[in-house]
Amino acid sequence: MSKAFVAGATGLTGREVVRVLRERGVDVHAHVRPDSRELDAWRRRFGALGAEVDTTPWMDDAMRARLTALAPTHVFALLGTTKKRGRTSGHADTYESVDYGLSAILLRAAIACGSRPRFVYLSSMGVTATTKNPYLAVRHRLETELRASGLPWFAARPSFIVGERDEDRPLEKVGSAVGDGLLALVGLLGAKRMRESYRSQTGAELAQALVRLALDEAPDRVVPSDELRALR
Ligand SMILES: NC(=O)c1ccc[n+]([C@@H]2O[C@H](COP(=O)([O-])OP(=O)(O)OC[C@H]3O[C@@H](n4cnc5c(N)ncnc54)[C@H](OP(=O)(O)O)[C@@H]3O)[C@@H](O)[C@H]2O)c1
Repeated sequence: MSKAFVAGATGLTGREVVRVLRERGVDVHAHVRPDSRELDAWRRRFGALGAEVDTTPWMDDAMRARLTALAPTHVFALLGTTKKRGRTSGHADTYESVDYGLSAILLRAAIACGSRPRFVYLSSMGVTATTKNPYLAVRHRLETELRASGLPWFAARPSFIVGERDEDRPLEKVGSAVGDGLLALVGLLGAKRMRESYRSQTGAELAQALVRLALDEAPDRVVPSDELRALR
């Protein structure tokens, strides 16, 4: 039986990945940060789906010990902060400390745990080796370490992810709405491939694609946004 550890389980994509995995009969361990103010609510929500909530602290030793004990077949890294969160959380939350740092703790633990889990990394459209954008640069670094990890893996590079968020993200809303509008026009003019690459996707749609690729044992590779859209 497949056993999945899902980090970032409370996110827009993560909560849907937990749901879809449970629908597919997977034993799911949904990670919620131990200091989450919503821990009880997540326990109820994930418990109702038949998923276990895991609150292992974000430290190398603890995460390695937890994954070693669990021996997962799949590990999902679906974490990320935003510039706004970094400014308002009261912690030093940055792309470096969260998007890279926590994902890297998880990757090291997955490598060390011994069960050779498939590592599913939620990266982003636009990642390149030469990017100067800090959000994209940390994703390129993690993708590079993933390729060298010796684990089976894939990295998904979606465009905008949309859905009902617990917090307001006006830039994301405007970006996806304007983008989708322009792309509809581009599609009418015949550039369908471009429209499919950049169009936004809901967390639920993306989760379907991630779980399908993960359980179908897709070959190790980067999966672009148009392919993720086609797989929903
Ligand atoms: N949103 C987009 O348009 C988009 C597009 C392409 C790629 N991506 C990338 O895809 C990934 C997931 O996106 P999403 O929109 O589903 O994410 P999301 O809804 O913002 O969820 C982020 C997840 O990361 C966790 N997290 C954030 N800061 C943390 C911290 N300091 N300690 C522990 N956990 C922390 C959150 O936990 P809490 O709930 O406890 O805060 C949550 O589970 C991110 O890496 C994102 O950058 C996003």
